[in-house]
Amino acid sequence: MSNGASPREHWSGSLGFILAAAGSAVGLGNIWKFPYITGENGGGAFVLIYLVCIAVIGIPVMLCEITLGRYTQRNPAGAFKMLNPPTSTLAHFLGMIMTLCGVFLMCFQYWGWGALLLVIGALIFRYRWMLVGAMGVLAGFTILAFYSVVAGWTLGYVVIAAAGSLRFTDVAAAATHFETFVLSPYWAVGSHAAFMLLCVLIVYKGIRSGIERWSKILMPVLFLLLVVLIIRGITLPGAVAGVRFYLSPDFSKISAESVLVALGHAFFSLSLGMGAMITYGSYVGREQNLFLSTLSVVALDTLVALMAGLAMFPAVFAMGFAPDVGPGLVFLVLPTVFNQIPLGAFWATLFFLLLSVAALTSGISLLEVVTAYFVDDRGWSRRKACVVFGLVIFLLGALCALSVGPSGWRNMPWLQRTFDFAFGGVKNSLFDVLDHVSSNWLLPLGGLFISIFVGWVWGPRRAVEEIRRGSHNFADVHLWSLLAGLKDDPSHSSDVHVITLASLWGIFIRFISPIAIVIAFLHTVGWLDLTG
Ligand code: PHE
Repeated sequence: MSNGASPREHWSGSLGFILAAAGSAVGLGNIWKFPYITGENGGGAFVLIYLVCIAVIGIPVMLCEITLGRYTQRNPAGAFKMLNPPTSTLAHFLGMIMTLCGVFLMCFQYWGWGALLLVIGALIFRYRWMLVGAMGVLAGFTILAFYSVVAGWTLGYVVIAAAGSLRFTDVAAAATHFETFVLSPYWAVGSHAAFMLLCVLIVYKGIRSGIERWSKILMPVLFLLLVVLIIRGITLPGAVAGVRFYLSPDFSKISAESVLVALGHAFFSLSLGMGAMITYGSYVGREQNLFLSTLSVVALDTLVALMAGLAMFPAVFAMGFAPDVGPGLVFLVLPTVFNQIPLGAFWATLFFLLLSVAALTSGISLLEVVTAYFVDDRGWSRRKACVVFGLVIFLLGALCALSVGPSGWRNMPWLQRTFDFAFGGVKNSLFDVLDHVSSNWLLPLGGLFISIFVGWVWGPRRAVEEIRRGSHNFADVHLWSLLAGLKDDPSHSSDVHVITLASLWGIFIRFISPIAIVIAFLHTVGWLDLTG
């Protein structure tokens, strides 16, 4: 099918695509979040559950996104617009439910929520599935706004570490320093601005000479830094306890909650649910093997998460700290740990550099989603789109950066009053609100609707046809023959009904992934309590 007149820029080859997509996936999620949630959820056992989530949901949904992208050659909103069926019972049903709920809430004077649901209901009637893509573009704004604030902190810490000022003898001192740092408007907004500027500069250059080129440089650097840090960590005296904690499962610490945390994190870490992979997939050439690329991206992301744990826990244990301190692990415990080993400032600088590099390759993928939408669907030039929206996201992020901390809202009483009027008392900062809305609502809902759309609306048959270009094995090889290494044996590609990789994938995206996501989603928003 023809995809419009203007030739679309493509990755130079599979390696370029795989490294760029892995760059998007590997980010703060892997190096900052994964180790601390592993620490809180019992180490090795949690790692095992995370791996299962990656296999059951991560791989199938990522393949959906990349396939949608390559087929349509569009950003997420454009992709759904192109494939939107003229009528959709499911969409109309959802639209009706939303509208009814909106009216109901209005009756009880929940003005903000009621109006929000009415608007969403009307939008669903009007745009149907295109809304899923639009939600992805919106998530690009909200995620990048708070993501780049944290990324800015890591950049700031590179500077502070290099200047040799991260000298703490205990975690309390590190915490005081961290607080002063994030509450200082100059540091917080300044480092956020620096990070956004780097993102804009790379996206401005386009696919091959911007995103691909920098991913090809930054990803190997990241890998190297990680290996160096792991070697440093496990050669410290007493490091074995950390390795043991990390690799030997303690199932008594696992609860339903941990399973859900693992599932939610699988989404965030693989950049799924908001169309980053649809966008990157739209720059993939027809001859490339989508299935193998998906597997490679997932494998790299998982490998880096596992390695990040290995870089941290041995050092944390060797220096006698507890692994379950939560989000402060990276900003509080590690600087203290580094301070106690020879050449600490050097190792700390290296570490925060690693974190910044990882965040940068993810940040550009978020900005690219927004940019691609305005280029494809609004006819803007790439340069204008990325500069204008880089600026918009910077402003939103600056509000986020200023909202952090106990007195956050005091910096912007007008915003708090608006929120209060519309949605009732808000206690959390804008930073928390954006993080919460995107990670708990937009991403899981996006992932759910993407897999339902491919599984039930667009249809696995068309999707598999697209995947088949460039990877015949995926569709036609008998799964057992593939596992047994007999895929080239003629008797193993018979017409009788067999399980192929394609049929297995169809079952996953139609049933298993959506059901798992719904359960996790209901739990995270508190409508289903599995913890008993
Ligand atoms: N995957 C990135 C990380 O692990 C975050 C991200 C989410 C990037 C969604 C793009 C889209 O940090």
